[in-house]
Amino acid sequence: MTRIIAPSVLAADFGHLDRDVRMIDRSEAAWVHIDVMDGLFVPNISFGFPVLRAIRQATAKPLDVHLMITAPERYVARFAHDGADRITFHLEATDDAAHCIALIRDSGASAGLSIKPGTPVEALRPVLPLVDMVLIMSVEPGFGGQQFLPASLDRIAALRRMADELHPQLLIEVDGGISAANARTLFEAGADVLVAGSSVFKAADPAAEIAHMLHA
Ligand code: DX5
Ligand code: ZN
Repeated sequence: MTRIIAPSVLAADFGHLDRDVRMIDRSEAAWVHIDVMDGLFVPNISFGFPVLRAIRQATAKPLDVHLMITAPERYVARFAHDGADRITFHLEATDDAAHCIALIRDSGASAGLSIKPGTPVEALRPVLPLVDMVLIMSVEPGFGGQQFLPASLDRIAALRRMADELHPQLLIEVDGGISAANARTLFEAGADVLVAGSSVFKAADPAAEIAHMLHA
């Protein structure tokens, strides 16, 4: 069973980005999660290429880039060029998910596909065998610090069943409202990778919070 914690830099102190990313680098977190928002697919704008490059300089850990942008196929090659190891885009953000997946693979990155809380898990079925990972959003994308949506647990279990049938190697990532309080339940429901922003960066001891989630 895979268990990965991917802290979201969205909740870091951007005045001390280098310090905060190096803290993750020294922790038990295996990946660094990077939330890119365009103000169109979601009602918020986060950051783009210069910040990604700065993060790349501060850690050798895999950069797990979560694109909350419309028509992601326009930019996946640039994200890979600037340091993304894994690129996840939203099924709702493109007319041609298979094409976007192919472009991510051409760029050398791992390909992930995400769905918002209101999108049925069944919508993933046609493209599931093409991706390395599916990201189940457990809050509406756009902002950190929201409450975990409990219906996400059944969605993770449903996706795990679909993956057992179609793609046993698939990684399942969950993002939004995750802390040491629900990490164990999520891993047991079938999640492999947990993203956590606020719970990590607001903790008195972020590395200890990461360890608690991992060994929950
Ligand atoms: C939300 C982002 C999340 C977010 C998680 O759109 O995709 O990665 O940063 O933040 P928390 O852990 O605070 O819910
Ligand atoms: Zn995210």
